[in-house]
Amino acid sequence: MTFTEIVHNSPEYQQTLALRERVLRIPLGLKLSDIDTDDEDQQLHFAIFDEWSLLACVVAKPLGSGAVKLRQMAVCPQQQGKGVGRHLLEFVEDALRQIGFQRIEMSARQSAIGFYEKLGYRTSGGFYIEQGIPHIKMQR
Ligand SMILES: CC(C)(COP(=O)(O)OP(=O)(O)OC[C@H]1O[C@@H](n2cnc3c(N)ncnc32)[C@H](O)[C@@H]1OP(=O)(O)O)[C@@H](O)C(=O)NCCC(=O)NCCS
Repeated sequence: MTFTEIVHNSPEYQQTLALRERVLRIPLGLKLSDIDTDDEDQQLHFAIFDEWSLLACVVAKPLGSGAVKLRQMAVCPQQQGKGVGRHLLEFVEDALRQIGFQRIEMSARQSAIGFYEKLGYRTSGGFYIEQGIPHIKMQR
């Protein structure tokens, strides 16, 4: 597996858009929209590839004051539950720390809380609805 930071609008970025739509939007009856990709030239893009294909990706949006928000974390369905998500998050945390970010947060789907908790994140506040499903703020 190769962890890499990818360039906005590159062919690899286009691959992540397809994975994000497939994993995060189509199951909800939605498509990836302009709202999802607005300002992504100002954000950081990370991915894991194997020899043949993209396995997982995530976007990091700087918030100021040393904080960054992870968005759109998606692992290819055939690869879920095999440690790829953990691997990606650990690599991304390391990369973000080296850039100088001190706090990472995300708006987590209720269904993914257990995953982020295993990586040391904690919930704060109550649930709210995004894309029609419950989410909660998490951070570490
Ligand atoms: C949620 C997701 C990113 C996790 O990635 P993954 O590669 O499947 O997870 P991993 O195999 O690395 O799991 C790491 C640990 O978290 C646990 N875990 C994984 N998904 C979990 C979930 N949804 N709920 C609770 N625990 C979970 C695993 O059992 C594993 O535990 P272990 O270390 O004790 O064995 C991935 O399944 C995914 O893309 N899901 C669909 C999209 C999604 O929900 N994205 C997040 C939006 S906020």
